[in-house]
Amino acid sequence: MQTIFVLNGPNLNLLGKRQPEIYGSATLEDVTALCEAAASEGFDIRLEQSNHEGQIIDWIHEARDKAAAIVINPAAFTHTSVAILDALHTFEGPVVEVHISNVHKRESFRHHSYVSLRADGVIAGLGIEGYAAAVRYVCGQLGK
Ligand code: DQA
Repeated sequence: MQTIFVLNGPNLNLLGKRQPEIYGSATLEDVTALCEAAASEGFDIRLEQSNHEGQIIDWIHEARDKAAAIVINPAAFTHTSVAILDALHTFEGPVVEVHISNVHKRESFRHHSYVSLRADGVIAGLGIEGYAAAVRYVCGQLGK
């Protein structure tokens, strides 16, 4: 079994309740189910969420030994965190950045992403389907 880490940043614990007009009504549990359904046989999903930057960095370090790929929605840390970018640079497998909303249609401060400097691909604006697309992509890249 290979594991895909699906990491989520601040405020995404409130997915489904938080600004549903932007982020929709699905919850993070729904995202987990969607990712599990999208993963090819032989792949496990480990979905995590934290409101704390250091915790996300610790999971990325853990991924170095335990994950074949990382799908990450860093939420607001996308636009601020050189530390998450640096952590992702220590990871050798595929990395896909996901945003539920189309960040390019929103405020200009959301147009820049530090994480995109490392991500192999970026998906924005497909709602939670973006996570499933990312999982399918990394499974393909990993050859299953
Ligand atoms: C987000 C977009 C970010 O700009 C925002 O801070 C989030 C969620 C998205 O999934 O659309 O919290 O990453």
